Amino acid sequence: MSKALDNLRLYAGVVKRVGYTLSIGMLNSGSRDELLKLYNAYSGHPHPEDGTPVDPFIIPKTDVFELFGNDSASYEGVYECGFGHTTEFELKVISNLVKKWNPRRIFEIGTFQGRTTLNIALNSSTDAEIITLDLPAEELASTKMDIEKGEVRYVKKEVSGERFIGHPAASKIRQVFGDSASFDFAEYRNSVDVAFIDGSHAYEYVLNDSEKVFTIVRDGGLIIWHDYTNWPGVWTALNELYEKDARFNGIRHIGGTSIAILKI
Ligand SMILES: C[S@@+](CC[C@H](N)C(=O)[O-])C[C@H]1O[C@@H](n2cnc3c(N)ncnc32)[C@H](O)[C@@H]1O
Repeated sequence: MSKALDNLRLYAGVVKRVGYTLSIGMLNSGSRDELLKLYNAYSGHPHPEDGTPVDPFIIPKTDVFELFGNDSASYEGVYECGFGHTTEFELKVISNLVKKWNPRRIFEIGTFQGRTTLNIALNSSTDAEIITLDLPAEELASTKMDIEKGEVRYVKKEVSGERFIGHPAASKIRQVFGDSASFDFAEYRNSVDVAFIDGSHAYEYVLNDSEKVFTIVRDGGLIIWHDYTNWPGVWTALNELYEKDARFNGIRHIGGTSIAILKI
């Protein structure tokens, strides 16, 4: 009887939560994010014949243990995770990839608070240089392409990189500012060991950023994308690159994360 009551309470709680999210909660950006996640979880590409959803994540999977064995990285602020961040597990995966790859030059598109930037700095060698590009809030209305409405709040912030500013590891980090579609990447050509793409999640931007980053990552380097399974613009662009562009045929999706990687 008490089990039935527990289930009833759980059911009532879920109904209340969903009701809130679908009504007044729409005014709350956190609830809108939850809705986007729900949409992403339940939507797929409809099958052309019977209309049933098809899993849109076509990129073959790889596994963290295959990639780097045990967790050997060090971290800071891993659990201080909120909207716009990599998850705790993803941050650990990226930190371990960096530790294993031992890059000298890392380029990140999309700084936000700098939580991933800081952990990359903590897990790279003392002589490593981390360049992180961010769109200044004042340039929001003049980007070359349209960014997603849902990501405007990550652009509009008082400070870019607040998580690393003042931290001892910040001496390895260089902030650069601009729109990734018009930023001049020429000085980084063929010199980057690891690139992390986590700027705009709009389809056109993911294609742009992937193309630009391809010119700066050296042979033997690594490209990491965030949000493959979270934003339709990201999975549509990456699926297209994987299927149609031989340079991207080696992309792999790391199981249990929204991260995709490619060794050049
Ligand atoms: C989701 S946040 C990045 C999160 C961060 N990489 C992390 O792991 O914590 C996206 C960032 O990309 C930036 N951004 C969005 N559009 C951009 C563009 N066109 N060029 C450069 N940066 C952009 C935003 O200002 C924001 O800081």
